[in-house]
Amino acid sequence: MSRIAYVNGRYVPHHDAMVHVEDRGYQFADGVYEVCEVRHRHLLDMTPHLERLQRSLSELRIEMPVAPHVLPLILDETVRRNRVVDGLVYIQISRGVWRRDHPFPPPFVRPALVVTARSSDREAADAMARNGVSVITVPENRWPRVDIKSVSLLPNVLAKQEAKEAGSTEAWFIDADGLVTEGSSTNAWIITKEGVLVTRPAESGILRGITRTRVLALCDEFDLKFEERAFAPEEALEAKESFITAATSVVMPVVEVDGQPIANGHPGEIALKLRDNFFELAEKRRAW
Ligand code: PDD
Repeated sequence: MSRIAYVNGRYVPHHDAMVHVEDRGYQFADGVYEVCEVRHRHLLDMTPHLERLQRSLSELRIEMPVAPHVLPLILDETVRRNRVVDGLVYIQISRGVWRRDHPFPPPFVRPALVVTARSSDREAADAMARNGVSVITVPENRWPRVDIKSVSLLPNVLAKQEAKEAGSTEAWFIDADGLVTEGSSTNAWIITKEGVLVTRPAESGILRGITRTRVLALCDEFDLKFEERAFAPEEALEAKESFITAATSVVMPVVEVDGQPIANGHPGEIALKLRDNFFELAEKRRAW
């Protein structure tokens, strides 16, 4: 089955899905995006994803190109046309197409909207979770507005590639104080020997992950203690468990930092339980 993409008002075969060479997303990385998980044909956490998308747009003064009630319909339709049962939906909005010039284009230029959807291999992800993943650390070199989900991801791309070349799955950015901010495409967590979940506050230095918010809600539900504070990689190595969260990986246990094992080097019980229950809850509730 050929894949279908939504591009500025039309559903087109994936191989014909094009944007203009003067698209500002292409030329200036002048755009924002969201990635949502699809489970059993339903988008998880659609509402918070769309709220964060609107927030990113507002921070960059880009107009939402479609009426608010239309975007969920486009997302559902893209999922349906691609017959995605378990997978991901990608939404990107750029400031639109105009002759290359740094200031914003005139107000009549419409922002460009692209939506794609693809299936993912659920079993492979579960197998990965059963083994856990390793992370490396890299110096934080991103702009301070990482709260905006901008398509300008060059430091993240370079960090992820460095991780890949080191045989790892993720790279944790380390700030000037030696503390972990977040991963190149995930939020970072540890669980202390006392069983307290620790993750950096979302007020600055990280993207406020939708999966992160859901895991915090799960903590309340399961009576798990949590603290929103930054931690150092050294503390991660002393921790009982560690994991990363994102729509693409949900809760993924971390078993090694910079080649050093965390605890016994195997995925922790709490991380796996959160992963299982995340899905259980996700399957019961269509949208939070
Ligand atoms: N990334 N931090 C960063 C830098 C991210 O890029 C992401 C998500 C997250 C987790 O956010 P959420 O739980 O809402 O997915 C944290 C997406 C998946 C990506 O770039 O592919």
